[in-house]
Amino acid sequence: TTDDPPPIRRLSEWDAARLRDLADEHGTPLYVIDQGRVRENVANLEQAFHAEAISYAVKANTVRTTLETVADTGLDAECASAGEVKRAVEAGFEAVRYTAVNPPAADLDHVVSLSDAVEDLDLVITIGAADTLAALEERGYDGPLAIRVNPGVGAGHHAKVTTGDAPKFGVPFDRVPDLASDVLDRGFDLVGLHAHAGSGIHDEDDLQAHRELVARMGELARDLDHDLDFLNVGGGLGVPYRPDEAPLNLDRVASATREAAGDLDATLGIEPGRYVVADAGVLLTTVNTVKPTPETTVVGVDAGMTTLLRPAMYDAYHEIRSLAPDADDREATAATVAGPICETADVLGRDRPLPAPERGDVLAIGNAGAYGYEMASNYNSRPRPAVVSLDGSESELAVERETLSDLTRLEIEQ
Ligand code: LLP
Repeated sequence: TTDDPPPIRRLSEWDAARLRDLADEHGTPLYVIDQGRVRENVANLEQAFHAEAISYAVKANTVRTTLETVADTGLDAECASAGEVKRAVEAGFEAVRYTAVNPPAADLDHVVSLSDAVEDLDLVITIGAADTLAALEERGYDGPLAIRVNPGVGAGHHAKVTTGDAPKFGVPFDRVPDLASDVLDRGFDLVGLHAHAGSGIHDEDDLQAHRELVARMGELARDLDHDLDFLNVGGGLGVPYRPDEAPLNLDRVASATREAAGDLDATLGIEPGRYVVADAGVLLTTVNTVKPTPETTVVGVDAGMTTLLRPAMYDAYHEIRSLAPDADDREATAATVAGPICETADVLGRDRPLPAPERGDVLAIGNAGAYGYEMASNYNSRPRPAVVSLDGSESELAVERETLSDLTRLEIEQ
């Protein structure tokens, strides 16, 4: 219907004046996350995947307000660490799957103690190696378990985030039946199987790999001599980062997923992270220097790879827009937008046609809601940015900006 939320929010649709005001009020670099858009993304997912269980992979954005918004929609949480489990529980998620990748002992201690301490917490621990089963037994864990499967097929926007065929993740496909028997022999409740192809499933090859993974998992579930509650086939739904890219056709992905799974007694589940939050966030940054060079105009801004790592780490493309009030009257200039970090990789965008940038302009960087603030660091002794949360016409500071004293807070004076 015409009331359906749009499939994607483009950077051009954000209100420039409002973003400029936020930059004025809170300073830059500043992440802005719009909770209304988070809800719309969840609604779109629920509409397409109406028959499936949807969890939010919290690693994409764990800011408390965001987690509360998603928890309110009723989605479950998929968590990769004790810290994520703690945050998810505190934000009100009632059902949490802890998908441990080589879980450190301290993480297991914490999660097992939470499972005892928090009443009504619906927790499932997913194990990706036999050693984790032994470690949980040692800790007296007696709750439900799932097995993380290495499906042998991966997909993703970059080799660094193509997961399904990387040996570090999950139990090799052929060994799953043995581990499943072991889990049951030791008296545990085996409730599910889980696999994840990778992050940024967007083109036809990715979709083909996703279908292949789901088909393999469906077969594995049917072959297992045991009834499961769920079969979770991971997250990875991509979003368009370039203005000319089309959004994913969620209905098509949903029906392909269902069809590939085949007949199942178990509930089919997915766990997107990026899709829920990417276009709900922008990063605001201020221009400090504009330097013409023979090759390009270098626009020096106050956000860099310590604020938004994705361009440096994955050569990821993020759209950049000038919020200057008179942007429309300025001539387009090919600009290379560079951060303040002493690394050549610290470039947020190359040769972008921007309205002739000037010192003091605020730029907005799009699709920054997923894996933006989450991957920020203190390298070069840069304090991490602040995060502002929007909800309708309201805005509130969600995470304070770090200060220079925060940088040395944990150091021991000798
Ligand atoms: N499930 C599992 C087991 C995962 O490992 C991940 C992501 C997800 C779900 C969610 O994937 P998503 O729906 O967000 O694509 N920092 C990278 C992405 C790393 C993803 C890691 N695992 C980036 O910025 O592209």
